[in-house]
Amino acid sequence: MEDKTFYITTPIYYPSGKAHIGHSYCTVASDAIARYKRMQGFDVMFLTGTDEHGQKIELKAKEEGVTPKEYVDKIVAQFQDLWKLLDISNDRFIRTTDEKHVQAVQKIFHRLYDKGEIYKGAYKGWYCTPCESFWTETQLKDHKCPDCGREVKWAEEEAYFFKLSEYADRLLKLYEERPSFIQPESRKNEMINFIKQGLEDLCVTRTSFTWGIPVDFDPGHVVYVWLDALTNYITALGYASDDDADYRKYWPADVHFMGKEIVRFHAIIWPAMLMALGLPLPKQVYGHGWLLFGDGTKMSKSKGNVVDPLVLCDRYGVDAIRYFLLREIPFGADGNFTNEALIGRINADLANDLGNLLSRTTAMAQKYFGGKLPAKREEAPIDRELQEMAASLRAKCDENIEKYQFSNALAEIWKLIARANKYIDETAPWVLGKDEAQFPRLAAVLYHLCEVLRIVSILLTPFMPNTAPKMQEQLGISGEAVSYASAGTWGGFPESAVIQKGEALFPRIDVEKEIAALIALIGDTSGKAAAPEAKPETAKKPLPEGLAQIGIEDFAKVELRVAKILACEPVKKAKKLLKLTLDDGQGQRTVASGIAKWYTPEELIGKSVILVANLKPAVLCGVESQGMILAADSGEDTAKVLFVDGIPAGSPIH
Ligand code: MSP
Repeated sequence: MEDKTFYITTPIYYPSGKAHIGHSYCTVASDAIARYKRMQGFDVMFLTGTDEHGQKIELKAKEEGVTPKEYVDKIVAQFQDLWKLLDISNDRFIRTTDEKHVQAVQKIFHRLYDKGEIYKGAYKGWYCTPCESFWTETQLKDHKCPDCGREVKWAEEEAYFFKLSEYADRLLKLYEERPSFIQPESRKNEMINFIKQGLEDLCVTRTSFTWGIPVDFDPGHVVYVWLDALTNYITALGYASDDDADYRKYWPADVHFMGKEIVRFHAIIWPAMLMALGLPLPKQVYGHGWLLFGDGTKMSKSKGNVVDPLVLCDRYGVDAIRYFLLREIPFGADGNFTNEALIGRINADLANDLGNLLSRTTAMAQKYFGGKLPAKREEAPIDRELQEMAASLRAKCDENIEKYQFSNALAEIWKLIARANKYIDETAPWVLGKDEAQFPRLAAVLYHLCEVLRIVSILLTPFMPNTAPKMQEQLGISGEAVSYASAGTWGGFPESAVIQKGEALFPRIDVEKEIAALIALIGDTSGKAAAPEAKPETAKKPLPEGLAQIGIEDFAKVELRVAKILACEPVKKAKKLLKLTLDDGQGQRTVASGIAKWYTPEELIGKSVILVANLKPAVLCGVESQGMILAADSGEDTAKVLFVDGIPAGSPIH
């Protein structure tokens, strides 16, 4: 057991505002993995925490007339309460204001400086005085501050830099040698493109604000954001302290989970820092997608959609929320969070499929056998399919969970639940119950249902830690019968179990009344939240020949983004192609497009287009094309590029 450790982390959250359901997403997913690994016998370290320094927090505290520490203390407590409510089983919670972290960061900074990996220089850039922020040329929007739109001026500030620029080759080699270091695959390509455009040294201190960890040998400088934040993953284990036993035990991390917009920091800056320190690298960096709200952003500002996790847990229960987050959206992709979809899943999957299976089974076990199944059972050929599905379920879950495909794992569990419900209809136990001679067959049918529910309850434990014990209580099982080991084989439902009918796991929700209540709750009379989901028309229309229907999860795999054409030139040797340089909101990339016949470069420069951002790069006539832009084919040998001028580069399209 000694070396069977598993270390998983969430990003550390900025306590700059209230936590919303989007913040809960990564933490719930990490929790499911931590619980799963514990069930498998791993010695798990699950870390989460808060990233408390920086200018934004300093300014917010000032606005409220409190000290930065007072400001963060209040919000951090809210985060911690939320994690308790959501049944998050983190083993540790790090705050970057913890004394232990502060001292370790100072030591790390010193070490890097002594090794020549950090040097003193000048930070130059476009400075926005009201925002107190530096911007690079490419970050500016129409040469104005991208945050507030005001004038910027060229400025310089003394600062320390980490020699990130020297790590490009080593990082590319790392990705090549360890193909699963960055997941999902599409994010790896983004990182490779980013590095190929050239890495600049990273500014790691500031003098323009004070709310940060002081550089102990140079007063006036505070450590700036990412060096302070990323090192949490090792300082929380005691690295650079007197007690580093946990560091030695758990590092390197098995996986860092994070949202896609901060993969860059984890896949580029973090490994480079660790290389500079001579430390082992994490095994994997996994960038999940965003929960998008009514307004298509990752911020929960939208009206007409309740996204406060406290309200949601209060109305629907913690496990329903956990289930929805992990079931609805494939982990690597973006997906919409709507109250209708949530209620839909609660009614269909939880109340109907799972809840009914349990209540029908326990009610019949009570009614016909007083809760104790007789040992004399008579099997029939129809039982075999259910037995096989149930016995192979754990392996299917394992396979998906190892790849962090929670929604697939849950879909597999629900396939078995659906099959078991069908089995009830097929075997009609209420008919068997009318004839005593059929009781051995009835006992076998109920045994099969109980055994399916036993296996389902075990495999649901990491996702729904409240529901699984409730199911097991009603089934009258505990100990070995609910162990992970026993979920992999058929037949572990104990003879001695006393089955009892309990409360419904998930009461059905009256959709119309509930949506009306939600509208009343958030004071939004626009009716947005009440609009029933439009039935997909495409279901009725015939599909173009040769095209298979796809689910929304397939479409969600395509990452469409607005991109602005910065430059455009013809491609020698390829009359049809134009080489476009695009700003995709995160950086620049090159795309070769076969539109030279219909557009001149001059017509395109400055226009905004729709980019397929996660298309595998391909070399077209000597040009590496990192994506594709969308155009409509009007059928008469003309193509019209779809322009979306006026929408900022990087805006997601769904
Ligand atoms: N403090 C940094 C992380 C430092 S890690 C060394 C940070 N904090 S954050 O609070 O802005 O974001 C924390 C995480 O929450 C990110 O992974 C981000 O993607 C995630 N989410 C915030 N809103 C989200 C959604 N709407 N959906 C999914 N995740 C989202 O960045």
